[in-house]
Amino acid sequence: MKALILSGGKGTRLRPLTHTMAKQLVPVAGKPILGYVLDHIAEAEIRDVGVIISPETGEEVRRYLGTGRRWGVKIKYILQEEPLGLAHAVVTARDFLGESNFVMYLGDNLLRYGVKGARKRFETERPDALIYLKEVDNPKQFGVAELKKDGSIKRLIEKPSRPPSNLALVGVYIFSNRIHEAIARIKPSRRGELEITDAIQELINMGYTVKSEILDGWWLDTGKKDDLLQANTIVLDEYITTSIKGRVDAASDIVGRVDIMSGTKIKNSRLRGPIKIGRNTVIENSFIGPYTSIGEGVEIRDSVIEHAVILDNAVIQGIERLEDSLIGRGARVVKNRSQHKAYRLMIGDDTVVEV
Ligand code: G1P
Repeated sequence: MKALILSGGKGTRLRPLTHTMAKQLVPVAGKPILGYVLDHIAEAEIRDVGVIISPETGEEVRRYLGTGRRWGVKIKYILQEEPLGLAHAVVTARDFLGESNFVMYLGDNLLRYGVKGARKRFETERPDALIYLKEVDNPKQFGVAELKKDGSIKRLIEKPSRPPSNLALVGVYIFSNRIHEAIARIKPSRRGELEITDAIQELINMGYTVKSEILDGWWLDTGKKDDLLQANTIVLDEYITTSIKGRVDAASDIVGRVDIMSGTKIKNSRLRGPIKIGRNTVIENSFIGPYTSIGEGVEIRDSVIEHAVILDNAVIQGIERLEDSLIGRGARVVKNRSQHKAYRLMIGDDTVVEV
């Protein structure tokens, strides 16, 4: 069994963050989403890993994953010159995949449980595809499955305008080598992409076995801002345990689970977990509320923050209440103290500011 991780794409729905950063590297509770994906691959004891990268963000992805040694896997990087679809990514990886069975894992999908169980089931039952389904509120934004009465799959449709069910295709699939045959028979969709959903439908048309499983535990497609904040909330809730490696002065007070990394200083502040704080950050005269992730080298002074993701080297000063927010790397949100009250903004493309 091999693994193919898709880490290309343009991340349009997470702009402006993704103007300068791969969407798969945006951190959730202090760790890039791709890190969780690799954890799951390693846990399923898959060693041969292909990572699809794009010309725009490939270097950054390589820098983070390296050789894969940190996870005990061996990574081969495969460049997909243009985002022509998930099935096109499989075509691009054909040499790497050979005739192996493989897990295909979209690098912006975050799952509660990994693929260990699915691998076992695939190897016991030997279908040509094993897919995961999950009920969602907005099926139009996903691939959708229609099931027969006996629970087997009737058909699959990519982003239907009139969804036949609310069962979305999760971005994790296991395939036999027959998927290549199916991909060779499909045409690009209306959005101009070779859809993996169409290829799986083609497997069914060809009379091959496609099995599905309703996913246990949560699943988040982190490609959008609100999902990213929700992912942050869920992961903080489940994984944060108290660990204080930074310095907390006597005037500060901490309640709940808080993970503070080394080199960080907390002065005269109140922290209410769950909170994750990276290295070399300073928090002074502030209140940090639950479900907040703060990166490295951040400065927060005289502010109140809750349910937010603050990335590396951001500065927040004199802000009375910052909530439900995603603040990019090196961004500054600073109260201006002069008599002349005005918003003075220098913000990037596609930024959203609610005042
Ligand atoms: C892709 C797939 C879709 C699947 C989704 C899961 O959508 O095409 O079938 O439900 O991933 O995250 P995309 O992210 O390309 O919109």
